[in-house]
Amino acid sequence: MKPIGALPPEFAAQTDALVIAGRAADDWAMHAGDTPLFVYDMAVVAARISRFRAAMPAIDLHYAIKANPHADLLTTIAPLVDGLDVASSGELAKALAVKPAASISFAGPGKRDDELVAAISAGATLNVESEGEAARTFAIGDRLSLTPRMAVRVNPDIELRGSGMRMGGRASPFGVDAVRAAALVKAVVAAGADWRGFHIYAGSQALDAGAIVETQAATIALAARLADESGVAPPLVNLGGGFGVPYFAGDVALDVERVGGALAEALASRPAILAETRFAIELGRWLVAEAGVYLTRVIDVKESQGETFVVVDGGLNHQLAASGNFGTVVRRNYPIAVAARMGQEAADTVSVVGPLCTPLDRLGDKIALPPVEVGDLIAIFMAGAYGASASPTAFLGHPPAAEIVTAI
Ligand SMILES: Cc1ncc(COP(=O)(O)O)c(C=O)c1O
Repeated sequence: MKPIGALPPEFAAQTDALVIAGRAADDWAMHAGDTPLFVYDMAVVAARISRFRAAMPAIDLHYAIKANPHADLLTTIAPLVDGLDVASSGELAKALAVKPAASISFAGPGKRDDELVAAISAGATLNVESEGEAARTFAIGDRLSLTPRMAVRVNPDIELRGSGMRMGGRASPFGVDAVRAAALVKAVVAAGADWRGFHIYAGSQALDAGAIVETQAATIALAARLADESGVAPPLVNLGGGFGVPYFAGDVALDVERVGGALAEALASRPAILAETRFAIELGRWLVAEAGVYLTRVIDVKESQGETFVVVDGGLNHQLAASGNFGTVVRRNYPIAVAARMGQEAADTVSVVGPLCTPLDRLGDKIALPPVEVGDLIAIFMAGAYGASASPTAFLGHPPAAEIVTAI
């Protein structure tokens, strides 16, 4: 038997049929008309945002929409955050539908000319990632007779310790190396662009508050050094994010209040050149992952060579991350439950597999579950981030999962 991750706090205490946002899981499936489906409980998202605000009252909060770009979810989140971070012109269009351009920033190492045109025309901030991209931005701005809003994305000489995805401290396609950043800032300012500041993103999925505190302090020091070297103060420093969520057994949730306390201290003693600077943190999964539940129905329960397989109608085509094939080295089990029998004693060790004809399509590997029958709903938690939009939905031609965004 292998362990599963702990259910998010909003669901962990339930002992009967699973309720999401006040309605039974079965009800949501009926409402969707079919399974599989994702339900995003927006009260959970709002609670995370409130917790961030309380822990970091002076810091701007940006939502990185790559984590979950569902239009209804964006409509609900937009008024609750200070900015949206996007990574393509498709995401830019979605963000512009719900938030003014001045609060949208666009990062990504391969922005095409048509994407630069879209961002400059709208008035979104481009986090420029190279000297070449800056030159293309100036040229397009001239051609359009528009002043581009530009920040410089720096590839920091810092890494976020313990993060699931490190994006700093090494050669990287993301941003311009710190040693060349000041020169690029000077070029941006000399070209007459609307200088917005720095974007410094060192990694994702960190649960260790100490590592985040350390990285933030180093990021503030780096921003101050680059400001000194370039001779211009940044209006905004986006400190990155990296707040992780506990997916797996043994993971301990991030102590966000500790991060907030240390950040307030670091900012209180920041170098004078950053005195007028605003600071932002951009978060994806920490805001939305725990709000999402993926519900999939049992089609078959079968035995093979002494093992029991629970075959469900959804799989890695909708929820790739839960199958262990989205950025994890070792496959581990997401939190999972039989929706009708929350908190009941385990009866059997089973593997929950999807309908795709690949052994990769495994949502639960040798896990202890209460009795499972054909027709039951299986709930996979932590499905609010990098689920529907980060899975190979066209693979093998099954229909997409429904997505329901609850009202708050
Ligand atoms: C630049 C940038 N911002 C934000 C994010 C969102 O990360 P997370 O969902 O872990 O908060 C990522 C993740 O890859 C990123 O690369």
